Amino acid sequence: MSTIFITGASSGMGKATAKLFAERGWQVIAASRSIGDDVELAAIENIETVTLDVTDPRQIRSVAADILSRFDVDVLFNNAGAVLFGPVEEYTDEQLDAQIAVNLLGPIRVTQAFLPHFRERRGGTVINTTSLTAMLPAPFMSVYSAAKAGLERWSFGLNLELDEFGIRVKTIVPGIVDTNLMVAGTVVQSDAYAVHLGEVFAAFGDPATAELFSTAEGTAAVVFGAATDGKTRVRYLTDATAKEYVAMMVGFGEETTQAFASTVMFG
Ligand SMILES: NC(=O)c1ccc[n+]([C@@H]2O[C@H](COP(=O)([O-])OP(=O)(O)OC[C@H]3O[C@@H](n4cnc5c(N)ncnc54)[C@H](OP(=O)(O)O)[C@@H]3O)[C@@H](O)[C@H]2O)c1
Repeated sequence: MSTIFITGASSGMGKATAKLFAERGWQVIAASRSIGDDVELAAIENIETVTLDVTDPRQIRSVAADILSRFDVDVLFNNAGAVLFGPVEEYTDEQLDAQIAVNLLGPIRVTQAFLPHFRERRGGTVINTTSLTAMLPAPFMSVYSAAKAGLERWSFGLNLELDEFGIRVKTIVPGIVDTNLMVAGTVVQSDAYAVHLGEVFAAFGDPATAELFSTAEGTAAVVFGAATDGKTRVRYLTDATAKEYVAMMVGFGEETTQAFASTVMFG
């Protein structure tokens, strides 16, 4: 039986991925901070839930040591993430550190903890959830976008570093997915930016924008493909929005595409 370790598995894409891999006969280790509350996943026979905060290096090391002593993990899916939404000017030191910790340093540290295992068995796949914002940064989410861009670029470099050991590194790049991400995120308000902030919020809630949303289940199917296709391909755009905007960037350039996106998506 193949085994996948998933971070951020209590909700959204991580949870959908856990359920899909379990349905397809994989052993799933589903991790997050609140996973202990998830009775649905805990009731599935081939899913083991484990509490993990990816911003806690000590906990990462002890969870990885425990899991690797009991399971031959084939795939690590670094999916945990969180949004900090609002003007950069207003972010506190703690908010800035936490945003980089969860979206960039967390996946790097979790991967570090699993790499000796993958290297010794000369094989394995690391899949990192980045974002369309890694290529098309969004206003009021510029630090989130920067962290995801860092994760995307790191993945490409690490893939080359690990090639000689038969370890693949891949990225999952969603556009906009209907999940709890914005609800669970930290929103920083600001009087100085109130008008544009309100416009961007309204754009997210606009029915026209809702048409751009894809599903967590659709993303999970792409993750399954990335884990099992045996290809050396690194980047997987998961939905129509991501594919269309990346194609637009190739055709029309970054700045034109960003100007277009700000009229359609960002108010
Ligand atoms: N939704 C989108 O439009 C979209 C687009 C592009 C990329 N993404 C990325 O997709 C990934 C999954 O997000 P989602 O949309 O499925 O959102 P979600 O439903 O909010 O899921 C986020 C998951 O991350 C976990 N998490 C948050 N902070 C954590 C921490 N410090 N340690 C461990 N786990 C943590 C949460 O669980 P706990 O609270 O239990 O820890 C939850 O399981 C994220 O990396 C996100 O940035 C989402």
